[in-house]
Amino acid sequence: MTPEFTVATVAGTISWVLLLSATALAFAKARRAQRELWRTTKDMAGHAEQLRLLNRFTFLLTQETRRHGVARAATEFFVQEMGAGRAVFWRPDSEGEPEAPWLSFPSEEDGREVPPTLPEAQRIILARTAGRGTTPLLLTPDRQDQRPQPLQRAADAPAQGFAFYIPLHGSPREGVLEVYSGPEPWGPERWELLGPLTTELTNALRRARHYEEVQERADVDFVTGLFNHRFMQAYLHKLVSAGASRGRKFAVLLMDVNDFKSFNDTYGHSVGDRVLQVVANQLRLMTDGEGMVGRFGGDEFIVVLPGHGRLEAGAFAQAFQDWLTNYAFKTPLGGAVPIVVSTGLAVFPDDGGQRQELLAAADARLYQCKRSAANGRKRSSHAKPQPGLGVFGFLDSLVTSIDSRDHYTRAHCESTAEYAVTLAQEIGLSPSAQRTLRLAALLHDVGKICIPDHILHKPGALTADEFEVIKHHVSIAENLIVDVPDAEEVRMIARHHHERFDGSGYPDGLQGEEIPFLARILALADAFSAISLDRPYRRGLARDEAYAELQRVAGTQLDPELVKSFGRVVVALENEPVPTAAAF
Ligand SMILES: [Fe+2]
Ligand SMILES: [Fe+2]
Repeated sequence: MTPEFTVATVAGTISWVLLLSATALAFAKARRAQRELWRTTKDMAGHAEQLRLLNRFTFLLTQETRRHGVARAATEFFVQEMGAGRAVFWRPDSEGEPEAPWLSFPSEEDGREVPPTLPEAQRIILARTAGRGTTPLLLTPDRQDQRPQPLQRAADAPAQGFAFYIPLHGSPREGVLEVYSGPEPWGPERWELLGPLTTELTNALRRARHYEEVQERADVDFVTGLFNHRFMQAYLHKLVSAGASRGRKFAVLLMDVNDFKSFNDTYGHSVGDRVLQVVANQLRLMTDGEGMVGRFGGDEFIVVLPGHGRLEAGAFAQAFQDWLTNYAFKTPLGGAVPIVVSTGLAVFPDDGGQRQELLAAADARLYQCKRSAANGRKRSSHAKPQPGLGVFGFLDSLVTSIDSRDHYTRAHCESTAEYAVTLAQEIGLSPSAQRTLRLAALLHDVGKICIPDHILHKPGALTADEFEVIKHHVSIAENLIVDVPDAEEVRMIARHHHERFDGSGYPDGLQGEEIPFLARILALADAFSAISLDRPYRRGLARDEAYAELQRVAGTQLDPELVKSFGRVVVALENEPVPTAAAF
């Protein structure tokens, strides 16, 4: 082997070694670069997913203007997009403390399967504790002796089997979000998102709260704090639409403070405002959880009672009237002045299937009520007292409501009262019996409020079925007559005013002296009024003819002794003018 050959061989070997080393180095570098690229790609994909989720969350929240919508979107997002098992939003109370779970996703109402939560008492403690802090409170209930811990680092958070409470911190505090893990494990990239998601959610809730406050200011009347005209119109519109599609009834009451102008003129506007506030506060109290109340005009209020028919709304109006009757409004000079309110009632769908129809019906009855109140005052300024319901304004407004439907009832009731009391005087009944009789006569047909128009207005003879419906007016009257003096007796008289002396009347088929005496008097006065007053389809009989008719039914329909006594009353009445309207 020559030295030249040896040198060449060594050099070649070294070259090969160098080449191989360089190749291996390049290969390792390429592998490293590839691993780096792969990691970067994975990170980028993770970040892209985080970015997508954050964008999606922001987008969903910006679609909502109210807190309920924001909270609903957030809970849905945590379950559907983040893979949580369940999310619950806790709304803050006035102190900023989470008061109760406000809404949950999924929830029983959606008909979905709902994963269980922690025990109720523990949830409340955790929500409140978290609500007072600034970092989420984490609990892993499956681990032994696990206490709630503040969640500091995403890397330390568990992948599954957890529940956490995120405080939504603002000024005031906006609530707490409670989240339970689902079947899908949560990696650090999910936990890292919690911070930005919380910030977005808190901001969205704050925006929505401001929007609600502004909206509320626009909907509320400045003087009374009640909803204003615009809001109540919109509310009625919604109720009519819902009522039309789902067949739900509701009642509308329009209430107007009588002589409101005189409060302002006499004592100044601040006292007038106080009158409105007294009425508003009581209506607000009485409708709490039951209905909506608004200021509809200068001295006019509107009460909307969902689910109420005529009877329930009537009872509400009466309860309000009772309260008002007992309330003494103090004037600046120290005197007490009564506040009197007129009421008009309309019921959906009986009185109209449209908002404007309902309001027009309620308004017409309100107007009637006001007019009769004004007439009552005018009459009372003269010497002769007239029959009227005085302080029983609600019943008065009921009679007026019926009157606005068939126009004859009030005249019929008032003339019945006059005949009944005159007969009672003729036979020497006590003043208290006369008073009871007068009230019963004025209210005896108040049950007609519930009789459908097509029967109430029917000019011809009633069918057997229609007559059955008519019969109900006595028992309805019984239910409506409350809170008048001697209410029990007044109710009893009203109940039996259609009994017949021969026992063929209704509702109980009482006979002869089984029929309460005052009810027998009322039956006579009722019949005499009905046949002697004009109806649209027939002229009323002259008094002597009407009395002849009473004589014809003496012993069958009417008490014959009373008919005889009434003969003397008819003679005395001969010089008085005949009223011009009647009802059955
Ligand atoms: Fe009747
Ligand atoms: Fe009658």
